[in-house]
Amino acid sequence: MTKPKSASRTTGKPRLLVLHGPNLNLLGTREPQHYGSLTLEDINLALARRAAAADVDLESFQTNHEGALIERIHAARSQDVRYIIINPAAWTHTSVAIRDALAGVAIPFIEVHLSNVHAREPFRQHSFFSDLAIGVISGLGHESYYLALEFLLNKFNTD
Ligand code: DQA
Repeated sequence: MTKPKSASRTTGKPRLLVLHGPNLNLLGTREPQHYGSLTLEDINLALARRAAAADVDLESFQTNHEGALIERIHAARSQDVRYIIINPAAWTHTSVAIRDALAGVAIPFIEVHLSNVHAREPFRQHSFFSDLAIGVISGLGHESYYLALEFLLNKFNTD
């Protein structure tokens, strides 16, 4: 069987990275009216199970430090990460540096948000990421992440 183009050199499996920005470690208790009641661990576990069932390598990473996220994005390039799913959280609306990191490594990504940022405060309605993203999923709660993953799993079959 030929190895898919998107497969990692080390594991032979396609590799995905899920990135969570600041304060998402508080999911479960943080403003549940906007972000729901699942914890970040619940979401990461569901993503990991779904990816494992599809024989895809998936790693999740959360940080409250902008530089740490930038370095994780840089490292992704040498790790054969094929696609990124990112919820940049508050950095969505502020971070040229993270935008530039994603552009710099040129790894295609999907931007996700739990809440519908377009139905909230005006400052949340601008994203430094959306025009670079493959697509944006916003407002579907934890399913925003799951749907992004489903899209990418389908994409691996056609890449
Ligand atoms: C968020 C929306 C952002 O505006 C906010 O700063 C977050 C989470 C979301 O998932 O809905 O922290 O990205």
